[in-house]
Amino acid sequence: MIKILTILGARPQFIKAGSVSREIAKHKVIEEVIVHTGQHYDANMSDIFFDEMQIPKPNYFLGIGGKSHGAMTGQMIEKIEEVAIKEKPDWIMVYGDTNSTLAGAIVASKLHIKLAHIEAGLRSFNMKMPEEVNRILTDRVSSILFCPTDVAVQNLKNEGYENFDCKIVKSGDVMQDGAIFYKNLAVKPNIAIKKDFILCTIHRAENTDDETRLKSIFEALEEIAKEKQVILPLHPRTKKILENLKLDISHLTIIDPVGYLEMVWLIDNCDFVMTDSGGLQKEAYFFEKQCITLRDETEWVELVECGANTLVGANKEKIMEAYKNHSIFNIQNSQLDLYGGGKASENIIKELLEY
Ligand code: UD1
Ligand code: UDP
Repeated sequence: MIKILTILGARPQFIKAGSVSREIAKHKVIEEVIVHTGQHYDANMSDIFFDEMQIPKPNYFLGIGGKSHGAMTGQMIEKIEEVAIKEKPDWIMVYGDTNSTLAGAIVASKLHIKLAHIEAGLRSFNMKMPEEVNRILTDRVSSILFCPTDVAVQNLKNEGYENFDCKIVKSGDVMQDGAIFYKNLAVKPNIAIKKDFILCTIHRAENTDDETRLKSIFEALEEIAKEKQVILPLHPRTKKILENLKLDISHLTIIDPVGYLEMVWLIDNCDFVMTDSGGLQKEAYFFEKQCITLRDETEWVELVECGANTLVGANKEKIMEAYKNHSIFNIQNSQLDLYGGGKASENIIKELLEY
């Protein structure tokens, strides 16, 4: 019997865990104990994903959200450690690059529990991003690093990981597993939707916490929305910040965050995507949509290389130019198997069983 303590906390982690938990459930020899740190806590940022994706209810809910990075990460470490001492898992499993990921990684390393990192090896090379720091620190203490792409594997090799006591596995991307599985379950949101709309999300700290960048992005989006519908499910972080900035955003179709089934419908039916999200850049590709990325760099460089993704940062002129020049991305001109083709969860569990 293998016991895995899975640490979840933020929206993209629930989506990724959906596919892996479904795979775990196929194996009687694996017991999964789920800890929800509480980093995301609104119903439409958390509970909806557990319901829709049929993830088992968390065994532990720590309720640590809405705090500064230090307070959040510190309190998570303390509480996850208590759970790990009680549960004595063989593995701690963490996803991605959030504060919940780092907290789980630190507990595993202090208690000498094997750590599995899903979405390992990604780099933006921007150390000001909290996510970059979280993923570098987590990778370094991982026993097994599940890389979604060849670039991620190469990043680890460049940093000397072949000399460390760890195993690097190219598993593919668990988000592709989810996109394939949920495509046929997509649900149209109950709002007025015009043909050929743009799907947009903005929530990354490098944009929301920099007034100049945020203003420039929203000025461009407002101008675009005068010509073409822009549907923007708004992250609570961005909502709070926008409330204090007196910006004209009257042409944007701003809605509350949606569940994954509605999100999949929006991705599948939009003309193209504009985002600073990590996950949505790939989902656009899975659904054969062009993505304009409102960041200065991306971890998914292969999408920029194959022409599916255009990096524009927060510069209004660049955003407008990309909007005007956007072309329908032709997937036939790109590589179809960049992300493992939907077999990542299977590969991950197979590796853990053989370890
Ligand atoms: C976190 C991750 C980010 C990821 C994002 C996914 C870190 C450092 N960042 O960013 O990598 O892209 O999740 O969405 O871990 N809030 C609510 N309700 C909620 C959740 C958040 O109101 O359910 C508000 C709170 O004011 C909170 C703020 O959003 O303080 C930011 O939340 P936090 O979890 O700190 O970071 P995210 O921006 O969500
Ligand atoms: N997402 C969602 N509802 C929304 C906005 C995003 O289900 O209202 C999904 C999105 O499709 C992707 C995941 O949330 O699967 C990405 O999370 P987010 O953009 O919050 O984080 P990131 O990927 O940037 O870390």
